[in-house]
Amino acid sequence: MQFPFLRVLSGVLAAGTAVLATVAAGTVLSTSAAAQHFTDPDTLAPYYPSPQAVVERMLALADLKPDDTVYDLGCGDGRIVITAATKFSARAVGVEIRSDIYKSTLGRVASLGLSDRVKIVRGDALKTNLRPADVVTLYLLTSSNERLRPILEAQLKPGARVVSHDYEIRSWKPEQTERIMVDGRFHTIYVYRMGSEKDTKRK
Ligand SMILES: C[S@@+](CC[C@H](N)C(=O)[O-])C[C@H]1O[C@@H](n2cnc3c(N)ncnc32)[C@H](O)[C@@H]1O
Repeated sequence: MQFPFLRVLSGVLAAGTAVLATVAAGTVLSTSAAAQHFTDPDTLAPYYPSPQAVVERMLALADLKPDDTVYDLGCGDGRIVITAATKFSARAVGVEIRSDIYKSTLGRVASLGLSDRVKIVRGDALKTNLRPADVVTLYLLTSSNERLRPILEAQLKPGARVVSHDYEIRSWKPEQTERIMVDGRFHTIYVYRMGSEKDTKRK
């Protein structure tokens, strides 16, 4: 399994070295900003978008139906919630902790004329009411999924699906796991279905 976040993080940790000191000032600033965000205990993952082909496959594997409601926890530029609305006729809620990303994604959704189907919320995924969700999508770290797991177990209704890009939910048994190659890199998609505790948890 590949760990793109860890590659990002090692780049972030390298900030301040003599090598990076020679990089253009704008790049150093944005790298420092990423480092600052990632050391915030509320931050579940740095910003790193899923490729569009992965987004579409995640939603197809989730068996997303028209008028289902999908929550993307850490929605970044909104590509998952926008695709849910435009290609699957679903309703979608994107939750984003970073105010800069939240503002630009909110603007993007409005400019696409999707505000009636796609809601962008500035907030913490760990404090979001997930009871209305039919599908939850994640592209976070395994350790972050571990923090979300009890919330998902407490709030999601039977039959709801949780789809995670690259990072599994430990102690849950996936209904499906698919690996797809995009631009020369393998991506793994884990699909979980909420049922009885017996169905979801590993034996
Ligand atoms: C790896 S990106 C995934 C973006 C998008 N879901 C995708 O797959 O393209 C993770 C996103 O989660 C956001 N994030 C991190 N911690 C969060 C939290 N506690 N609540 C909401 N968003 C968070 C980050 O700012 C970032 O935009």
